[in-house]
Formats: sequence, C-alpha cells, structure tokens
Amino acid sequence: MISINEHYKKLNSSYLFSDIAQRVSKYQKSHPEKKIIKLGIGDVTEPLPPACINAMHKACDEMGNRESFKGYGPEQGYEFLRETIAENDFKARGANISANDIFVSDGAKCDTGSFQELFTQSIKIAVPDPVYPVYVDTNVMAGRTGNYVDGRYQDLIYLESTKDNKFVPELPENQVDLIYLCYPNNPTGAIITKAELEKWVRYAEKNNALILFDAAYEAFIQDEALPKSIYEIPGADKVAVEFRSFSKTAGFTGIRCAYTVVPESCIVYDEAGEPTKLRDYWNRRQTTRFNGVSYPVQCAANAVYSEEGQKQVKELISYYLKNAVVIREGLTSMGYNCTGGENSPYIWVETQTDSWEFFDLLLEKAGVVCTPGSGFGKCGEGFVRISAFNQYEKVVEAIDRITKLK
Ligand code: MLT
Repeated sequence: MISINEHYKKLNSSYLFSDIAQRVSKYQKSHPEKKIIKLGIGDVTEPLPPACINAMHKACDEMGNRESFKGYGPEQGYEFLRETIAENDFKARGANISANDIFVSDGAKCDTGSFQELFTQSIKIAVPDPVYPVYVDTNVMAGRTGNYVDGRYQDLIYLESTKDNKFVPELPENQVDLIYLCYPNNPTGAIITKAELEKWVRYAEKNNALILFDAAYEAFIQDEALPKSIYEIPGADKVAVEFRSFSKTAGFTGIRCAYTVVPESCIVYDEAGEPTKLRDYWNRRQTTRFNGVSYPVQCAANAVYSEEGQKQVKELISYYLKNAVVIREGLTSMGYNCTGGENSPYIWVETQTDSWEFFDLLLEKAGVVCTPGSGFGKCGEGFVRISAFNQYEKVVEAIDRITKLK
C-alpha cells in the first residue's frame, strides 16, 4: 500500500499565497465588475531591465548556433556569474566570499525550503514569528516540528518579533541548532543593524549553531549603515548560509534566478561531533537534484552587474520604494501604525482587528488585496502586510480607495 507522508497532514490545507489567490479568484468570479488591485503576494509588475533583455537575446542567439550552443551547465551555476556575484555582492562590501561558495539556483524559495534536508531529524529549530511560511512548512513536511497546537508547532522555538522589539527578536533562551533569519524582513519590512546581527553570529558560534539568513530583499536597503549581507559580520562565514534572489532585485520572478552562499569555511558536525564542511553536502545535494539555471537566464543575471544593469536595477528599486512611501504615508495618515517600506518593499500595518477580517474588508469594500498577518504566524495577528510591488498608479488608487473607507 502506498502511504502518504503523515507530516503533510499537519499543514494548513493550502499554502498561504495559494489560499489568498483562491479567495481572490472566487471573489472576482462573483464580482466580475470589481477592478481588484493586488498588493498581496510580493510579485513584481515592471518589465525586466533592458540590459538583462539584451543579454538574454544574445544568449538565445548563441543557443541557436552549433559552435556556441550549450547543453547542461554546471549545477553550481556558470563560473562567469559566480565570479561576478562574489566580486560585486561580497568582496566589494568587505565580505570574503569566493565564486566557489556560490550556488546559482532557480529561486530563494526553493533553496530556503530545501536547505533543511541536510540536517538530522532531531535538531532544535528556531523561527521568527511572524515568518515567511516556507521555512516552517518545509520543516513540517520533514517531520521536525511536532503537531500544530493552538497556532504553533510544538517542537519549534518561536522567536517573537513584536512592536516592542521593533520586530528583531531576542536571542533564544535555550540552545538551538538552526536559526532562520530574514532581513529586510518578510513580512514585517523591519531591518536589522550590524550590532544586532552580530549578536546572532556570536550566539551561533557559541552554540555550534547555523544561521540560515534570507537576504532576498537586500537591494531595498537604502541606509548604507545597514548590513546587506550577514558576511559583513566577522566570523559569519563559519556559521551562516545566505540566500539571495534576482526576483525582487531585478524583476526575475517570472524567469527565475537566485543564489545561495555556503562558504567553504562553514562548519557543521557529524554524528560523532566531528566538524565537517557544509558546502560539500549542499554541493552533493545540488548535483543530485538540480541541473542548473538556463544559460540565457544566467546571462541576464550577469547583466544586472553591468554599469547600465546597475543603473536600471536601481531605478526599479526606487520605483517600488516610491510605491512604498505612498502606502506607508497613506496608512499612517489614517492613524495606522506602520513598519517597513523604507528599506523594504513591505509595509506591516497594525490593524488592531482580526487580520483575515481586515483582509476581507479591504477586498470587499476597496477591492484591494493584502496579506493577513496571521498567515505568517501567531504574532502576525492584528496586522496585515501590504506589498509595494505593483504599478505606481494602481498603488495610488488602492490607497485612495482605502482612505475613503474611513
Ligand atoms: C511573498 O509575497 O512573501 C513572496 O513573494 C513570496 C515568495 O517570494 O515566495
């Protein structure tokens, strides 16, 4: 008899953003006349930077020619891209990361979700609350979390991120082995300072723990004093893995390219307590399960780092950040407390009502889609997340509609 993985039964019946998409689609079907504005899932709307398009066209032409045609690429990504990334995203900021430490992939969602596969069942895992649901759900699937009781999985350690701690949680009271952190934060839009991030690195060193640092939104950081990478903290290369994405940085949600950094110096332990290089295991995993990102897409990603690519990407980021200002100022002027939207594309709005009720109110009365905070965890109750990813005119209209509700 073929039996299902029983742990899947512990999950909500559908993934948060699929659930929202279904609800919106159902609502739209019964109200076809309503013009819905989506500020829910963080999906980009603006076209790819011309530098990326040109690079992709050129790469497609190469694929149409026997001399320059390419079959399977390296599972780790082409060296030209990994070298460019190491140089621009890390060495230029004083972080000692080399091309060898970089694994190009088709998305930070896949990588943050898959990374837990490398660890034993019994590790103690700490996740922020609220949190990007992928970190939790993939550990549920792997059977590490225990049952879901009263809004939480019994065997996870929740790091509460609240207004009082400015959405940067305290260190765990007890020893944990794996810690998920995300800054600029999804969903709260909060940022972390170097001093705060350093405390986590020191905690990981002291406890032989590993930090999985999701930096998918680093391109939105405007304040130069803030860390864009955990490797700006000395010693982090030994205790942290970092996830980056071209999705929000350069509008790649539809063409898929991201990367994960597993430094050669990053150490985990085997069953005898002997140190072993984590990089070798991720390399083993990737070479088995993954055949690399397509050549044209890696060429497009490489073009992000060209002079014109950098200029165009900065314009894209400014575009969405301008939307974020509209959202933040609009909601603040209505009396709502807002976090984020300054170094992040997400605005975390304190609604002081049930998150799903507020979601329904915005959908039904304003035709605007947001994301209910409770979908990200217990501490998200009483909040909604509003995304700045949409066309400027639509964002202005959405805020206008919301303002008229009061
Ligand atoms: C989000 O809205 O949180 C993200 O777009 C989801 C994702 O990147 O997977």
